[in-house]
Amino acid sequence: KKRYSMKYITQQYIFLLPAGAVRWRSSYRPAPLLTAAPARALIDEQISIKGRFLPPHCPVTVCARMHSEDDDLWEAFAHYNTNADGTVNLTKDHSVGGSYLGCEPMGLFWGLQPAPGAREGLRLRKKNVEIPYVVHMSLLEGHVSPGEGQSTELAAVTTERWYTAPGVKRIKIRQNGIVGTLFLPPGPGPFPAMLDLWGMGGALVEYRSALFASRGYASLSIAYIGHKELPGPQNRINVGASYFNSAFDLLRDHRQVCADRVGIIGLSFGVYLALRIATETGAKVRQKVQCLFLNLQLDQYIIEETLRAADKSQLFTRLSYPGAGHLIEPPYSPNSRISLWSVKPKKLITLWGGHLAPHAAAQEDAWKKILDFMENNLRR
Ligand SMILES: *[C@@H]1O[C@H](CO)[C@@H](O)[C@H](O)[C@H]1NC(C)=O
Repeated sequence: KKRYSMKYITQQYIFLLPAGAVRWRSSYRPAPLLTAAPARALIDEQISIKGRFLPPHCPVTVCARMHSEDDDLWEAFAHYNTNADGTVNLTKDHSVGGSYLGCEPMGLFWGLQPAPGAREGLRLRKKNVEIPYVVHMSLLEGHVSPGEGQSTELAAVTTERWYTAPGVKRIKIRQNGIVGTLFLPPGPGPFPAMLDLWGMGGALVEYRSALFASRGYASLSIAYIGHKELPGPQNRINVGASYFNSAFDLLRDHRQVCADRVGIIGLSFGVYLALRIATETGAKVRQKVQCLFLNLQLDQYIIEETLRAADKSQLFTRLSYPGAGHLIEPPYSPNSRISLWSVKPKKLITLWGGHLAPHAAAQEDAWKKILDFMENNLRR
C-alpha cells in the first residue's frame, strides 16, 4: 500500500511539472525567513539578524523575547520597512520605531526591557554562567507593539548568548578565607589574569570573569559583602584589606597564571578597592600590576590624587561617556536605569542613571578599550 501511494505522488509531480514550470518559477516565493547568525555566540559578539522573502517596501516588526533566570520576561522590538528586494538586514537598516531608532545592529539585545506588568526594579544579571540566555526572535507583520492585540508572526528564530566559551573551566575557591570563583581558559596556560571586583550590591558575580576567560584570561571573581559564606552581618563589609591582598596573591601564585601579568578591574565600589590594591605600599607585588579606571560618576579627584600620591599618575586613563549610566557592563546588556537595591530592612530603589542608546554605545566602546588595554599590558 505504501509503495502505491509513493508512485502516485511521483506521477502527479511528473504530470504537473511541464505544464506549470514557467508560471511556478515567476510566482513562487518561499515562506518568510528570519535568520540570526551565529546561532550561538558569546555575549559580546555581534549577531547578524536578517529577514528575507518578504514583500518589498512593507512594514514589519522584529521582536526579541527572553526569560531571565528568575523567570521574568524581557522584550524589545523595532519597526522596519523592507527593502526593494524584500529583505530587512538589522546590520544596516534603520529602525523607525519601537525600543530604539536608527541603525542599531544589536538594539534588540541592549534594548531588552521588562515586559509590561513586570515586577518593579528589575536588573538583568546572569547568575548561572554555565547556561546561556536564550533569545527568541520573531518577525511580525506590520508595525505593531508585541503583546498589544493581534499580530501575525511571519517567521521566528532562536539565538543563544553565552558568557562562557566551550572549554572554559569554572573553579570554586574557598581558600584563605576567600569566597570566589576562578575561571580558566581552555589549555594548560600559564595565562595573563584579572582580579574582578564588583560593587556593594554584593554576592559573587561571575559573568564578567567567565567572559574574560572566554577571551583567554584567567579571572578571579570574589565576594566581599552579601554572601552567606563570609563573616556576617551580610549587609556590611566584614573583611579587611588583607582579604583583597590575599585574593590578589592567590591569583598571582596560581600555577596556571603568569605572575607578572595580573590586572585588576573594578566597578563602582570595586574601583575604590582596585585603587587600594594597586597603590598600597608595603605589599610585595605592586610593581607590575596594571590598572585601567573606568571613571563613572565616581570622584575623579580622589582617584587622581590617590594615584599621584603613590606616584602612579601614568596609570590613569579617563573615559567619559555622556548619557551613560553608572553600571557599565559587558556590551549588549540593557542599561538598568533604576533597580531594586534591597528589600530588608527597608525597600530601597537606586537610580543609576543613563539612557539606553548612549549607555549601550558606552558599554561597547568601554569593553573594546578594556580588552585592548589587557591585550597591550598583560599579553604583550
Ligand atoms: C547585512 O548588511 C551588512 C552590512 O552592509 C552586510 O555586511 C551583510 O552581509 C548583510 N547580511 C546579509 C545576511 O545579507
